[in-house]
This record gives sequence, C-alpha cells and structure tokens, in this order.
Amino acid sequence: MCGIVGYIGSGKAQGILIDGLKKLEYRGYDSAGIAIFDGETLIIKRTKGKIRDLEKILAKEPVKGSVGIAHTRWATHGKPSEENAHPHRVGPVAVVHNGIIENHIELRKWLESNGHEFSSETDTEIFAHLIEEKLKGGSSFLDSVLWALKQVSGSYAIVVINEDEPDKLIGARSGSPLILGLGEGEYFLASDIPAILSYTRNMVFLEDGDVVTLSRETVKIFDIEGKQVEREPKRITWDPGMAEKSGYKHFMQKEIFEQPRAIADTLTGRVFSDSGEIRFEYLNMSEDFAKKLQRITIVACGTSWHAGLVGRYYLEKFLRIPVDVELGSEYRYRDPVISDYHLVIGISQSGETADTIAGLKAGKERGARILSICNVIDSSVARMSDDVLYTHAGPEIGVASTKAFTTQIVTLYMLSLLLAKLRGDVDEIEVAEKIGDLLQVPSLVEKVLKQDPLIEKISQKYYKYQNFLYLGRHLNFPIALEGALKLKEISYIHAEGYPAGEMKHGPIALIDENLPVVAVATRSTVYEKIYNNIEEVKARNGEVIALASEGDKRIKDVANEIIYLPFSNEDLSPVINVIPLQLFAYHVAVNRGTDVDQPRNLAKSVTVE
Ligand code: AGP
Repeated sequence: MCGIVGYIGSGKAQGILIDGLKKLEYRGYDSAGIAIFDGETLIIKRTKGKIRDLEKILAKEPVKGSVGIAHTRWATHGKPSEENAHPHRVGPVAVVHNGIIENHIELRKWLESNGHEFSSETDTEIFAHLIEEKLKGGSSFLDSVLWALKQVSGSYAIVVINEDEPDKLIGARSGSPLILGLGEGEYFLASDIPAILSYTRNMVFLEDGDVVTLSRETVKIFDIEGKQVEREPKRITWDPGMAEKSGYKHFMQKEIFEQPRAIADTLTGRVFSDSGEIRFEYLNMSEDFAKKLQRITIVACGTSWHAGLVGRYYLEKFLRIPVDVELGSEYRYRDPVISDYHLVIGISQSGETADTIAGLKAGKERGARILSICNVIDSSVARMSDDVLYTHAGPEIGVASTKAFTTQIVTLYMLSLLLAKLRGDVDEIEVAEKIGDLLQVPSLVEKVLKQDPLIEKISQKYYKYQNFLYLGRHLNFPIALEGALKLKEISYIHAEGYPAGEMKHGPIALIDENLPVVAVATRSTVYEKIYNNIEEVKARNGEVIALASEGDKRIKDVANEIIYLPFSNEDLSPVINVIPLQLFAYHVAVNRGTDVDQPRNLAKSVTVE
C-alpha cells in the first residue's frame, strides 16, 4: 500500500514529512515524493527508488516551509518511475493518493476531451486535474475537492495542497485509511499511526466519506456533501513496534486480517456485476489468441503453486482445454513440450523466485506466450511476461504467504471467466452471476475471521502434537496442501497435505490418537466422499478437526472439533476454507514460541536455486 503524510504547523515540514515516510517504509514502496509550500511557491521533489534517494535530492536542495505533503508509492497503475511518483501537480494543486480509482479510464477520456494533458500513467493524476478543473471555474478549494471526490468510484485516501491557498490542507478517505493527528498548533494526516506517533498520540480515525480541512488554527471534518461532522479523537498508547503492525502481534496476523481489503482491492476496477465486464490493465492477449488457445501450463512454487492447483480447476472448467500445473524447480529441467497457442502462466507473489523465473524462461524459449500473476509491479517475472495480472494485496511482509494466496486465487477465477468470455464459452448472464459471487468473497472472509477466538482455542489443544495430516478433495485438495505448508513453515511441526482419496493407498496406516487430522469437509460435490474418509479416521481413533459448512449437523458425529464456515459457490470455497487453516497455523506457532514472521531457514523470496 502507499504511504501518505501531510503536515501543517510551525515546524519544518521537510523533516517531519521525511520522518513520517520512513516510519511507513515497512509497507513496501518503489518511489517517493514530497511537496512543500516554501512561502512563495509549491516545491515538488520526486524520485523512483527509496526515501534515501529523495533525501539525497533534498540534501542538495533543501526545501523550507511549514506545510506540505509526502508519499511513498506501491505501484498499481503505471510502472515505478519519477513521472508516476506522487505528488501529482496540476495548476496550483498537488495530490497524494492511496487506493484505486475504478473509473479512471472514463474520467481520463473526459478530462482529455476538455483539454487536460496527462504527464503520468497513474489513476491518481486524475484527482489533480478534476480539482484544477473546478478551481478554474471559480469554485472554492473545498468545493472543488468535494466535487472531484464525487466524480470518482473506487477507493481513496488523498491529501491535497494548493499553492493559491497555502495555509490549508484538505484530506479525504473512502476505502483506504487516513488518520488525522492533533498536535499543539499543528496538524498531521497519515495513512497509518507510525508516521505521526512521535509527534502526537491524539488521533482521529477518519471514516469513509469524511473530508477534513486543516489550517494552523482549526480542523474541520465534513461529509461528502459538505455538512460538518464530529469525530471522537482517540489516544494511542501503542509503542512504535506495535504501531507498525497496526496493533497486531505479527505481520502475518495483520496480513491474514487484511485479506478482505486485499481481495476487494484485487477485484476493484476489474469486474463489473451489472455489465458482466471483466478487464485487466496489462492483459494484451488478443481475442484471436484466446479463441485459438489449446493448452495451459501453470508454473509456480510453494504457496503460489497451490494457487495454481486451484486455478487449474477454474481454467479446465471454463475453457475445456488441458491445464498442467508444474513446480518451477522441476519444469525448468524438463525440456518441456510447448505446442501452438500454448499459454504458460507464472504465479509469484514476489515475482523474483528463481525456479519460477527459470521455468517461465523454459516455456518462453520454446515459443509459449507468458502470462504472470504477481504482487510486485515491475518484478522480474512481470517484466518477462507478455501479459501481467497484478494482485493488489499490498506488500506481504510475513514470510508465510497469506493474502497473496487468496488474491492469486480470485485473480485466476477472473482470468478464467475472462478467457471463457473471449472464447464465447460462457454467456453474459452466467458471467454476471459469477462476478456477483466473487464480489461477496471479501464479506465472507470477514465473517470467517470472526472465528479467530474459536480457532485460537482449538490451537491450544493441539499445538504440542508433532505430526499432522491435512485432507482435502477436488478444489480443496490444494487447500489441504496449503494448510499443511502454513503449519510446517511457521511452527516447525511435520504436516502433510494429502488428497483424501489416497488414504486407502497408504496413509491410513499412520492414523492413531497421536496424529491429528485436519479435514476440509465443507459443502461440495465430493462431500460424501470426504465424510467417509473422516469416518475411516475416527474408526482408528484418529482426532479430527473438520472445516464444515454452516448447518452441517452430520459432521458432529465424526469430528472432535468443528469450524463452521459460510458457503457461497463451491468454486470459491478454497478462498474461504484456507482462512481458518492460516489462523490455526498462526496460533499453533505462537503457542510454540517460534518466530512467526521470520521462520528459521526461510526467506520471503527465494531468489536462488
Ligand atoms: C509460502 O508461505 C512460502 N513463503 C513459499 O512457499 C512461497 O510461496 C514460495 O517461495 C513462492 O514465492 P513467490 O510466490 O514469491 O514466487
């Protein structure tokens, strides 16, 4: 996610803003910028790269002044570059923004038809043009901002500075966080608490639709219609370390709970339930290629490979063509057979996994078209691809991948629907219905996360066991694999994911009271089969922790512990079902006292063989 800091007061804005950006560095970014009114004009300094690169520029040309805004950018629209870095200036106003403007294409066309010229690829620049358009027409600064906000759909946290009214800052939020810091004769705006915690502990957490005007004397908060509203300040007692994790104990825990937002951000601006439209900014594939597509190979590692196993079900179901899912470390040495109209899909959160890169190269060299699903803009995997679909999960800091996984799955679902549409394999009504199911996922995940206390309680009972077996079938076999991987990589317990149908071919010999079995037994076309597998485990004194669908009473006859989950659409059940397994692994690891965010022997991105 991007980082925003705004300041107005009597202090030196440059130091306060840079300090604030540094406290947000943990969020990950690829460029940085600052805009300060120096008493005469608005000075803007921006750079691709890190805050230290911006500091080098400021060391040569320091900017005095006591009002300004600053930004660290996690690119979503437009590659990391100086011209795409924030703040974006048009006329007297400069804007910093965190979020995604869903209707940026339509607004850009309208502004260009009204003579506006764009200097960046970003959706953010649109805000500056809209505000300037209204100011030119004689509207006040606040009215111009309110009008601009009403034109956009999507998510935003923005702060605006105006060279013609330098004693004021205006901020607003909808869908992305923005915090107001209340100092003595000085005020702050920030994306997150750490940026301003060393200046004030009195903060207001602005709500969606709030617009705030700051001057050195007063702060006023309005709703989007310009009606003044009151917001209760909170006193923040966190220490800086806790603040970086938004009060969570670990980044992994924070990222598990960020998944509703991460999934919503990944869907925003891409699927439209009214029209059934699906669009990806960097999908260059022609309709002709999609129609002639004959074969797909997915290449990935670890958790991303598990996402690929889920994606195979979607792609085969909607496109009716063969789909293989390969481990990068194996595929790269296979001298793979590439046919005509063959698509190789690379899935990688970091976009830097050496084995995945090598596997994609093996396909590319033999003539395959490369499409990648990445979380990091302009990463190596993205740069080598013909098409790139970005998950908008925001930086994933915990080594154990969580929100990247669920956003990869929803991206694969959107891709499958889009390719099926291009091939004429699904009609508009079916697509619109499935998009409706997809748009429900963030709230369903939110509902599952409320089961955290129950899952923590279950983890207390099982965290001392040394071995676990995870069972799943069909779409949820990959979820059994993923649940086992989460447990083993952060708690160091040996855990094995297995297709439940394979139990009778060997693993059932392992079953006894010392081997807890986690079974994914939610409503599905294979429910009866997995239910029988659980009965076989119970008949041999196995302990069963079952994931079940709300309303399933039969499961009580065979499971020792039950985690009930909402049901939407079987295809999307993997996104729902993985959440309790992430939480279970997390709490077991915490009980065992391991380093959850930096597990032993592991790196966040395996950039070597
Ligand atoms: C998952 O929790 C692990 N951190 C690991 O398996 C990871 O998924 C794998 O290394 C692939 O990483 P990537 O998605 O960045 O390519």
